[in-house]
Amino acid sequence: MGVLGGVEKTESDHLTAQRLRVKVGVAVGLLIVVVIVTPTIVVLLRKKSSTITGLMNITESLMTTEAAITTSSFIEKETNVVTSLESATIKNIVTSNGMTTNAAKSITSTSIAKNVTALQIFNRTNEIVYAIWNTTAGSNSLPSSAGGGEGEYWPSEPPEAALDGNLSTEYTNHGCADECFNITSGMYTGFYFTIKSAPFRLMKFCMGTNVRHVKRDPMTITIEGSNNDQSELPLGKSWTLIYSGSSGLTESLNRSSHGTTQTVATNVASFRSYRLIVTSTRGKHNSASYSEFVMMGQYLNNTN
Ligand SMILES: *[C@@H]1O[C@H](CO)[C@@H](O)[C@H](O)[C@H]1NC(C)=O
Ligand SMILES: *[C@@H]1O[C@H](CO)[C@@H](O)[C@H](O)[C@H]1NC(C)=O
Ligand SMILES: *[C@@H]1O[C@H](CO)[C@@H](O)[C@H](O)[C@H]1NC(C)=O
Ligand SMILES: *[C@@H]1O[C@H](CO)[C@@H](O)[C@H](O)[C@H]1NC(C)=O
Ligand SMILES: *[C@@H]1O[C@H](CO)[C@@H](O)[C@H](O)[C@H]1NC(C)=O
Ligand SMILES: *[C@@H]1O[C@H](CO)[C@@H](O)[C@H](O)[C@H]1NC(C)=O
Ligand SMILES: *[C@@H]1O[C@H](CO)[C@@H](O)[C@H](O)[C@H]1NC(C)=O
Repeated sequence: MGVLGGVEKTESDHLTAQRLRVKVGVAVGLLIVVVIVTPTIVVLLRKKSSTITGLMNITESLMTTEAAITTSSFIEKETNVVTSLESATIKNIVTSNGMTTNAAKSITSTSIAKNVTALQIFNRTNEIVYAIWNTTAGSNSLPSSAGGGEGEYWPSEPPEAALDGNLSTEYTNHGCADECFNITSGMYTGFYFTIKSAPFRLMKFCMGTNVRHVKRDPMTITIEGSNNDQSELPLGKSWTLIYSGSSGLTESLNRSSHGTTQTVATNVASFRSYRLIVTSTRGKHNSASYSEFVMMGQYLNNTN
């Protein structure tokens, strides 16, 4: 919060300074901007070969750089740490360039978000987890209740088990029976939930194989995110697809074991809610079942 206060103060200081600069003249203003901007640009673009040709391109270049260094490879190198000073400076640059306040805000919060050297792991506390079935990415969620039949999840193996950090507990959902839509049972089942503490940027994930049945392991999944209100989450239109691909369990034949960590390459946004759907299993069985869905990324403590 101290950092944010500093940013606000810097902004109003800046606005006062900007009015003054208008009076003094555009040339002097541009000179000041160049003096402030240049060292920061050099730092931010240090790893890129691109050069900046003019002031008009500074904002554009900054945004491009933001997108590039938000990738996991950047995080993995664990070298660049954006300081609060740089964060405040970025905001100044954007405002100086005449960008909207929203753009300045988003760049500032992005900078704060990547001020970490290691990924955080989401640990469920008391979040409600909603089991679903017969659901595909972008479609409405069909609620799944506890039971042993079609469209139900096994009562002692609820969706919360996939978020408890315990490889000995599992989430098992039968989904459609084989006759249902000519698909393997367990396909198109999953869950969604809303993180209570703060929005979370999902950058990587790792699943865990189920306790007993190799064929029930998910092979492919989709992950979607949403910032919509709770009441809108059953609607498919509330969700943004951020991952469709391997579960990371392809090579994992051992039971109750973590699979390969997968990268959510395209996700640069943070979400409060996440929805996971199994789109294929290793073999034909009566359900899809997995012990863990470990979410790795960053909490965004500020989204203003
Ligand atoms: C920004 O740079 C790119 C490539 O260097 C160029 O194509 C583009 O016209 C420039 N934009 C402005 C506003 O100068
Ligand atoms: C970035 O992290 C450093 C070290 O933990 C901290 O001192 C600084 O306030 C952080 N800056 C922001 C913008 O969060
Ligand atoms: C979640 O739990 C793991 C294992 O106990 C821990 O390493 C990690 O720091 C926790 N994450 C957060 C955000 O507290
Ligand atoms: C499952 O989804 C399909 C396709 O959306 C739909 O036609 C069908 O009615 C759904 N089944 C149930 C039981 O809701
Ligand atoms: C994990 O789950 C198993 C089976 O329910 C239980 O026996 C064990 O105590 C749990 N481990 C932890 C650390 O909670
Ligand atoms: C069910 O799937 C099988 C194998 O993919 C296919 O040959 C068959 O035509 C499908 N049946 C229907 C009714 O879609
Ligand atoms: C699977 O389990 C066996 C026996 O415990 C172990 O030797 C092997 O290394 C495990 N494989 C993987 C990929 O963890």
